[in-house]
Amino acid sequence: MLAMLRDVLKDTTKKKYAIPAFNIFGFEDAKACIDAAEHLGAPVILATNKVALEHIPVAVFGRMLVTMAEQATVPVVIHLDHGADYETVAKAIHAGYSSVMYDGSQLPIEENIRKTKEIVKLAHAFDIPVEAEVGSVAYRDKYRHIKQEHTSPYDAQRFAVETGVDCLAVSVGSLHRMEEQTAEIDFELIKAIEAVVDIPLVMHGATGISDENLRKLAATSFGKVNIGTALRMAFGRSLRKQVEADPVVYDRLELFPDAMEKVKQAAINKMLLLNSTRANTLEEEMSNGESTD
Ligand code: G3H
Ligand code: ZN
Repeated sequence: MLAMLRDVLKDTTKKKYAIPAFNIFGFEDAKACIDAAEHLGAPVILATNKVALEHIPVAVFGRMLVTMAEQATVPVVIHLDHGADYETVAKAIHAGYSSVMYDGSQLPIEENIRKTKEIVKLAHAFDIPVEAEVGSVAYRDKYRHIKQEHTSPYDAQRFAVETGVDCLAVSVGSLHRMEEQTAEIDFELIKAIEAVVDIPLVMHGATGISDENLRKLAATSFGKVNIGTALRMAFGRSLRKQVEADPVVYDRLELFPDAMEKVKQAAINKMLLLNSTRANTLEEEMSNGESTD
């Protein structure tokens, strides 16, 4: 079923789990992630970023993903990742997305707050939740203009209160597009931010975070954990291996099943590390009238 971001993030802090937001670039990885979520009976967030939407127009991608979400047996959120401006966000809402991010992280904080407030006004008028970012998460290998700037707890608190966003991306040591899980996460900074911000936090660049730290993050206020590179590597490496193994293959449909299976397994692995299956157990417990505390 198509789910709203605020619904899947509702209990993540209290019940110590997080939901992954997987970057999606087409039908194949979207299907693999939904299959992973259905396999575990857990919610999932499918996110499309700028390069994905340069490849498939938002109106086309939105309609496909929303249809896939509606047909899924688990809650699936369709999310705009790193939305650059008002127009991009408006188009995603029009295309049926159930969650949007506006990324004003490269702007001075006053301007980031002002522009985020405009987006919140627009999105909330359609009952669509908004993620925004304060501080900045850089990229390992490209987009050099994007700085690495850890989030100050003061800015995080002010930003959350003044903008009215539904969840907040903060920078605490991760980096986008890491291929190894070697990011140094500042758990002291996380504690300081958690102490003053009462909405769910969002982690960007989570491919670079170790399994042990992903488990630890599930028990913090991070409710949404963005993972892209890990799945792209799983898909791309499978394709390369198959093409190299069979020099005459040219039909891409023959190449997709193994690549999709690798993405599904990678997604399952991250969901288990983040304890996402707690969401399902909790729903069942709640509908049975059992206490979960
Ligand atoms: O917004 C998406 C992400 O932050 C994904 O980062 O590709 O480094 O896992 P990643
Ligand atoms: Zn990101």
